[in-house]
Amino acid sequence: MLIRIPKGWETPEREATPEEVYHERRRFLKRTAVLAGLAAGAVNAWPGAAAWLRALAPEPPGLEGLRKLEAARNPKYTTKRPITAERIVAGYNNFYEFTTDKERVAYVARHFRARPWEVEITGEVEKPRRLDVDELIRQMPLEERVYRLRCVEAWSVVVPWVGFPLTKFVEWARPKSTARYLRMVTFWRPEEAPGQRSQDWYPWPYFEGLTMAEATNELAMIVVGSYGHILPNQNGAPLRLIVPWKYGFKSIKSIVKFEFTRQQPKNFWNVVAPQEYDFYANVNPQVPHPRWSQASEIDVATGNRIPTKPYNGYAEFVAHLYR
Ligand code: MTE
Repeated sequence: MLIRIPKGWETPEREATPEEVYHERRRFLKRTAVLAGLAAGAVNAWPGAAAWLRALAPEPPGLEGLRKLEAARNPKYTTKRPITAERIVAGYNNFYEFTTDKERVAYVARHFRARPWEVEITGEVEKPRRLDVDELIRQMPLEERVYRLRCVEAWSVVVPWVGFPLTKFVEWARPKSTARYLRMVTFWRPEEAPGQRSQDWYPWPYFEGLTMAEATNELAMIVVGSYGHILPNQNGAPLRLIVPWKYGFKSIKSIVKFEFTRQQPKNFWNVVAPQEYDFYANVNPQVPHPRWSQASEIDVATGNRIPTKPYNGYAEFVAHLYR
């Protein structure tokens, strides 16, 4: 999200990447170099070519052997846009803990251990506790919802997520009346996440926050699966937030801690670049990013540019929160 020229003393990418991943990537690059050469011209001539090429790319790793996790689709939360193919949603990611290269996240994250996984619930709650993610999942009402996901970088996908309403989790966690915000934090495992080692200028671990009104809005969801199985690593295994009316960076991945707070918590991108990213980060086509327009977005599946809607098209559910 930030364009940054590395200093001479910073770790080169090949040193920051596990050797096996690096060599695999080299082999993949060689295989596709010819195709890519041919394609470069086509992409310039026709933006849809990028989407076509992505559809031709090998299936990303991380999808094999994922345990099934099926839940009835809730017809209230669906969209006219077609669901994006899973190979795209699992092959084009933002997950800076691993790498900033969207098409490499799946490769770099493939050996990450997302189970067993402990979740901590703390802060302004009746009873702070820690429990295994699967024990939590067993206690929650699972459903499938098809949501649009709109990144602040102006690309979007449509995903069938499996998870539970965040409001059910909040009820279960029993916050005290003093709780006004919910803060969430991602893992800190630099030995497994090369991006946490090589990009030491970022304030890891990743953190986000919502007001209690946002956290208990019916759209906010804790996602534990996609496309009928548990989440692959690259999409935020084993549990992540999805708040579809906000820019994608609010939808924090691989959460280890939920903390109810009295004060408004900070959020990762606002700390990194306050002039570019705010706390609320509601999708708004009328407010350009300082470096690009937010009026439209690229559908990653087709390469087509489509108009962006206020609150990502979810105004009827959330606009009242901000009046
Ligand atoms: N969560 C963590 N922990 N680290 C990240 O880098 N990137 C965010 C969000 N959650 C990010 C994160 C951004 S910018 C986007 S657009 C979405 O994850 C992308 O989710 P996806 O890769 O599943 O499509």
